Amino acid sequence: MIDSFGRNIDYVRLSVTDRCNLRCLYCMPEGGVEQLTHLQIMRFEEMLRLCRVLSGLGVRKFKVSGGEPLVRRGVNDFIADLKSLPGVEQVTLTTNGILLRENLEQLKRAGIDGINISLDTLNEFTFRELTRNGDIDSVLDGLQAALAAKICPIKINALLLKGKNDNELENLAALSRDMEVSVRFIELMPIGLGTVYEPVSGEEVLRRLTAAYGEPEEYDRPMGNGPAKYYSFPGFKGKIGLIDAISHSFCSSCNRVRMTSDGWLKLCLQYDIGVDLLTPLRAGASDAELQELISQTIAKKPEKHVFDQEKGKIDNREIKNMNSIGG
Ligand code: GTP
Ligand code: 5AD
Ligand code: SF4
Repeated sequence: MIDSFGRNIDYVRLSVTDRCNLRCLYCMPEGGVEQLTHLQIMRFEEMLRLCRVLSGLGVRKFKVSGGEPLVRRGVNDFIADLKSLPGVEQVTLTTNGILLRENLEQLKRAGIDGINISLDTLNEFTFRELTRNGDIDSVLDGLQAALAAKICPIKINALLLKGKNDNELENLAALSRDMEVSVRFIELMPIGLGTVYEPVSGEEVLRRLTAAYGEPEEYDRPMGNGPAKYYSFPGFKGKIGLIDAISHSFCSSCNRVRMTSDGWLKLCLQYDIGVDLLTPLRAGASDAELQELISQTIAKKPEKHVFDQEKGKIDNREIKNMNSIGG
């Protein structure tokens, strides 16, 4: 699918649930969020139907995300089904890692093409604070299990908040010195609760890591489908990545749209623009009708996000929290 700015949309981020077993400070309010009802959430067979329609339009890669995707029962079978759809080349997963160990065998059997694990700290107490009582050992266990099962690639997503966990930058980076994993530092985006904290810029990350580990080399080969830019540090087994949506825009090469668990095809992370696919699907729309609806909607994909503009000045600005958007 080519949008009106000539970008080829061949990647869909699919949020399979808005629920999560953690409550990260920058993502979910303490009391949780108003959850979608079972009726509002797409059944896996409905998701699969939409994915088949999307793959008929040229989508080749799917990212399964949440909330926390592994809290949804049946997600491993869904991934296996998604993998076997004609035209689908890659299915990857982004998880907080809490339930990873117990799902790993099934994920491996399903043919998962890569797993990203969110881990913002290596300190158990800071982890408890940032996730509001999560147990870091489950995540580290999941990571070890993924390494042992030779899942490839494994990427760590680390989001630094000024004054909370930014002192852990060097330690987190050392994971990719010692293991075959990439550690990516994500600039906090001002979406939902992301507006409450102060981000750490990609430039600061690079400066501090250079001071600690020596001059990096830019790594130009593609490593996944996301916006990360990668660097090789001397003696490191894995790469360091920067996902710096605030300081650098990567919108001109954006290849993706999102689908939320209630069937909203979402054109851009920052805006609520899109279309409800679930209602027509449940009303009996044919594949051709769904394809037409999707194609018409893709034509409205915005040119770029504008995080630096004053809030409230842009129509359709996203006010949802990340848990329902799927990252
Ligand atoms: P892979 O490297 O292919 O696994 O993809 P990825 O890095 O996009 O996946 P992941 O789910 O791990 O996302 C990492 C971070 O990138 C999250 O914070 C996402 O919100 C952010 N991200 C993903 N896509 C976009 C995008 O289109 N725009 C912006 N601004 N951020 C994005
Ligand atoms: N800005 C950037 N990344 C975010 N994530 C959650 N909220 C935000 C935000 N406001 C990240 C998580 C996780 C990934 C799926 O999305 O840290 O690693
Ligand atoms: Fe859950 Fe991920 Fe949000 Fe943390 S960032 S509360 S793990 S959805």
